[in-house]
Amino acid sequence: MWTRRNVLQSLGAGAGLVAVPAPIRRALAAAEPDLVLRLTAQRAELPLWPGAKTAVLRYFGQVLHGRADGLKPSPGYLGPTLELRRGERVRIEFRNRLAEPSIIHWHGMIVPETADGHPRFAVGPGGEYVYEFTVRNPAGTYLYHPHPHGRTGAQVYWGLAGLVIVREAEERAYGLPGPEHELSLVIQDRRVDDDQFVLKRMMMDDMNGVLGDTVLVNGAPDAAFMVTPRPWRLRLANVSNARIYKLAWSDGRPLRVIATDNGLLSAGEGVQTRPYVVLGPFERVELLEDFGERRPGAEITLLSGEFADVGMMDMMGGMMGRGMGGMMSGMMGPAQGKEMTLARFTVAAAARTPRETLRLPPSEAPPQGRHELYTRLAFRHMQGFLNGRRFEMEAVADDERLPLGEGTVWTFANDGGGMAMPHPMHIHGVRFRILERSRGDAPADLREGLVDAGFKDTFLIFPGERVRVLVAPTEPGLFMYHCHNLEHEDGGMMRNCRFGTGPSA
Ligand code: C2O
Ligand code: CU
Ligand code: CU
Repeated sequence: MWTRRNVLQSLGAGAGLVAVPAPIRRALAAAEPDLVLRLTAQRAELPLWPGAKTAVLRYFGQVLHGRADGLKPSPGYLGPTLELRRGERVRIEFRNRLAEPSIIHWHGMIVPETADGHPRFAVGPGGEYVYEFTVRNPAGTYLYHPHPHGRTGAQVYWGLAGLVIVREAEERAYGLPGPEHELSLVIQDRRVDDDQFVLKRMMMDDMNGVLGDTVLVNGAPDAAFMVTPRPWRLRLANVSNARIYKLAWSDGRPLRVIATDNGLLSAGEGVQTRPYVVLGPFERVELLEDFGERRPGAEITLLSGEFADVGMMDMMGGMMGRGMGGMMSGMMGPAQGKEMTLARFTVAAAARTPRETLRLPPSEAPPQGRHELYTRLAFRHMQGFLNGRRFEMEAVADDERLPLGEGTVWTFANDGGGMAMPHPMHIHGVRFRILERSRGDAPADLREGLVDAGFKDTFLIFPGERVRVLVAPTEPGLFMYHCHNLEHEDGGMMRNCRFGTGPSA
């Protein structure tokens, strides 16, 4: 018996639309989604710097059915931005035109198990995968990126990633600037040599993750924006393999955070005002920035402020003395925590548009239930461990099972020994709240910039820290949790978790 579900599963397994018998194709067509997109991953070359072509991997997009504005092209090598509406039914056909396996994961999106892009669904060169889901997440800034096991870091580095923006009609009633007054900044760092990206040539890259010396925003260098003197909604996403940013304005004005990873903050939480905001790999934050508070013609820079390196560099520096810095950086690459310019903003000379009153949405009631899970992080012999385990394609342990539809308090403790380093931890298929972060363990020069409010899907956990999150899965099946430092993830600091009951495998 062909149910819709197993048709989609077999499509998902790579059978492709052509293999579906005609009557079933008609049945599928009857349930035509609102929006059908195609994303193709392939090699490309583009002129990022004058007089040169940079080799990249890139997602190319097409709207096959539905709103033509469902995709918005990106100026650089990034994939197009998916502009989705909450409640919309979406089908996305992924075509792999790379020379290696790949699969797309919708980071932060709550989708059925078969649409999550788990590495077990990776398709080889020439293969296809069809995703079907209804947009359940609230308005916010999400991401998509490859997720084949062991190759995520490389594929993202070469250019495969993009934004997913979810919109809701209610947003205008909240008093937020409309789409015409918002900017998205996808922040990435690369090592650039001779106008080409260079991946991994330092011995410490597997340990610290790949860090670049050049910042690219939206897939292009030297980002600059002209803004009118009025409130703007800025969506900031860190899509770097390993770099942590300490976001700040060059004129010292505070940042007003209105959203974190998984949607707007609630009225109860209110706007979070910070002198700087710390953003780990694949975290997002939205700012409400009133450029009308600056004088016309003003030039402001969004920068990443300096902070003490919390990784290997620091330890080596301490061991070998400052004088060794130059030689060491030749072996190790750029450091975490160095100051960088991210983007320039120029305020246009125009009449100022005042702010509207901001009415953030009401808080959601917390889930019932207090199941408990505990995961201890460790990093030794160049490899990350979660409760002493590493990634296996199908395995789920007892302490990796979460009940469906009720709350689990999941405690992460970064005290498992070995190398002391921060890890950006991520859980698929859920949005969660950070209940508690152990006090006094985050570095003093980053502490004030941690925004633990709102719904999160990724969070930084510093050496010695304990972070407790409250998560209530709604989609049954096999999902995953992992360190989102992409070199740690590819190195196996990743595990499956199961939501609801199911086979142990
Ligand atoms: Cu953003 Cu498992 O990934
Ligand atoms: Cu994810
Ligand atoms: Cu890590």
